[in-house]
Amino acid sequence: MKRRVGILISGRGSNMVALAEAARDPAYPAAIGVVIANDPTAAGLALAAARGIPTRTIPHRAFGRDRAAHEAAIDAALAAEEIEVVCLAGYMRLLTPFLVGRYAGRMLNIHPSLLPVFPGLNTHARALAAGVKFHGCTVHLVTEAMDEGPILAQAAVPVRPDDDEASLASRVLAEEHRLYTAALARFLSGDAGRAPTTALHNPLPDLLAAP
Ligand code: GRF
Repeated sequence: MKRRVGILISGRGSNMVALAEAARDPAYPAAIGVVIANDPTAAGLALAAARGIPTRTIPHRAFGRDRAAHEAAIDAALAAEEIEVVCLAGYMRLLTPFLVGRYAGRMLNIHPSLLPVFPGLNTHARALAAGVKFHGCTVHLVTEAMDEGPILAQAAVPVRPDDDEASLASRVLAEEHRLYTAALARFLSGDAGRAPTTALHNPLPDLLAAP
């Protein structure tokens, strides 16, 4: 039986679309019950609606500094759709202990770096500046500390000598879409605890093919 998953977005929504497309498969263990955006201009809202997914816009600006009230509204929207598991997908607001606590152990995030390196923003530029040879993405459980929860899955990509921020970001993003769909499926199937860190994608063939 499919589990009901809610997705929180702030913008483009390509990871949300990847999850929504995977969920069309009757064998995939998630049904996307709602997509919630904190930004009314988030492009992902239309992409979710076009797929028949209920959408809610809960603008943080409407709540001023009252983060608790904003999160209470999100919590109510998730509860109204009987959501069991929450996926953050490019959700650009820090959550307070309230919402994190409500979904403890059942809220996932995707981050565009191989955590614990490069938490926070501008990960691709920072990876290039640091001269790392591998970069990638991480799916982790959300805890109160930003980008620090237990790692569920990671995928690595080689950094090429001619990479710029855009080329590296796009190669990582393709891996994000694969990783998030695979990691959510495994999480819902109850296998997540067995292998806390697993590279689902072997980067070696890419590396050998790189110029
Ligand atoms: C992704 O790179 C994700 O890892 C990060 O924000 C970006 C969101 O992209 N947290 P999208 O909205 O899923 O296209």
